[in-house]
Amino acid sequence: MQIEVKQGRVELAEDEALLLTSFEGVKRFVGPFKTIEGMLSGGLSHLFEAGDFTGKEGQTAVLYPGEKLRFGKIILVGLGRRDRITVEGVRRAFGFAGRKIRELKLKSLSVQAFESGLAGVKLTESSQAMVEGMFLSHYRLDRYKTGAEKESVQLQKITFWKERRKGVGEVRRGVTDGEISAWATSLSRDLANRPGNYLTPTRLADEATRLARENKLKCTVLSESQVRKLKMNTFLAVASGSKEPAKLIVLEYLPSRKRAGTLALVGKGITFDAGGLSLKSTEGMLEMKTDMTGGAVVLATVAACAKMKLPVHVIGVVPATENLPSGTALKVGDIITSHSGKTVEVLNTDAEGRLILADGLSYARSFEPDAIVDVATLTGTIKLALGTLCAGLFGNNPGLKKRMIQAGEVSGERVWEMPLWDEYQEFLKSDLADIKNVGGRFGGSILAAKFLESFVGDIPWLHLDIAGVDVKDKDDSYHSKGATGFGARLLLQFLKDWKKI
Ligand code: BES
Ligand code: ZN
Ligand code: ZN
Repeated sequence: MQIEVKQGRVELAEDEALLLTSFEGVKRFVGPFKTIEGMLSGGLSHLFEAGDFTGKEGQTAVLYPGEKLRFGKIILVGLGRRDRITVEGVRRAFGFAGRKIRELKLKSLSVQAFESGLAGVKLTESSQAMVEGMFLSHYRLDRYKTGAEKESVQLQKITFWKERRKGVGEVRRGVTDGEISAWATSLSRDLANRPGNYLTPTRLADEATRLARENKLKCTVLSESQVRKLKMNTFLAVASGSKEPAKLIVLEYLPSRKRAGTLALVGKGITFDAGGLSLKSTEGMLEMKTDMTGGAVVLATVAACAKMKLPVHVIGVVPATENLPSGTALKVGDIITSHSGKTVEVLNTDAEGRLILADGLSYARSFEPDAIVDVATLTGTIKLALGTLCAGLFGNNPGLKKRMIQAGEVSGERVWEMPLWDEYQEFLKSDLADIKNVGGRFGGSILAAKFLESFVGDIPWLHLDIAGVDVKDKDDSYHSKGATGFGARLLLQFLKDWKKI
């Protein structure tokens, strides 16, 4: 899709359609509304007076101005009350607008940009959110459909118009960042939505290699024998049940500008989680092709950092494998020596994410990063605790946690802090080994995080449990049913605001 930002009056442009935003309860028409009201001899006031369009958030209306304007269609989208505006509200409103545009099968569009910042929402942020909402609402998964059901018409060109010169640069920056972050989210969705037979660890590694080639990144894919030499045995233990070879993917972005430190991102890359010998039910397995969302998000984020030319050195580490039962699979009761040297008693093979991440985290430490952030669809319990609207945030550094919460507010991918008190460690005590991988029925997400913590040492670290937010069961504003790609926008925002700890 081609996207442009121009200075000028949007209502004077020539295009297939015009998109205007309106707050709720506007008393008088200004700017393009005033011009159009004149041209349509009161057409807008009729619409507002009839109450058919009030400017409520996400509400849309379509006008057909006929010969009087150079647009075939005018689309209005409501932003809600001006004093309640949020970045996420803008993103959602443009998500609904995007759906309408899709329905109308429009190919090109002129959009009224914001003229300035709004209470609590900067101009760059609202511009970015506009693009994200619009792009992400156009995401669809028709890769596996043949012919007839594929959508034929697609939006190809958007022009954003800003009337005043002041702030054009901010709109441009927001729009560019929005394009990149929506790209990263869509890529994460695409990978996560791919069925287990299409997206194997090898294919995921191929995707990383492709991203490296296209974005001038460094990519190393380690084979099982190389991983064995590194003594990443808890990772290999999970892989032992599958015929598909495991891969350790390392994707690295080195900025050309002066570095603001090094950050390691570690993503869970289980391309299918059957549970291993602790087999899941069919129903429990239904979502498990998305168990590599964390890995996809990490790869997409590293590539997006390169596209945004951020001044941070970022290393993405993704241990990728299937978790299947078989005659060679990891058994309940097995004791494995991890990369860190710690021994782990495996009491449930379905708690495999923490096993591969234990090695992933301790391997990430060898790069001596300033901080590590891991992203994982780690526990079903986090969905019980927090529902489907925010991810669980854990960590050992209060300052970093605060930054992640802030990034969540701006990106719309919100996180909520969970406890990580030392008393929880008790539950992970093993009779035979240094630690066991499960610790009873209660507080499962906290115990999983506690398990990970024991492999990070004293490096500042954050853990995002995204098991409640990685999939939507129905369409909404800028989401479609299936993978959400949750985490890419969050991490990008976190990295954009990155400064040394
Ligand atoms: N991949 C699952 C977690 C999950 C569950 C993600 C539901 C998304 C939706 C993870 O590997 C798992 O199976 N966790 C177990 C841990 C338990 C065995 C301690 C769980 O959450 O039930
Ligand atoms: Zn599992
Ligand atoms: Zn899993």
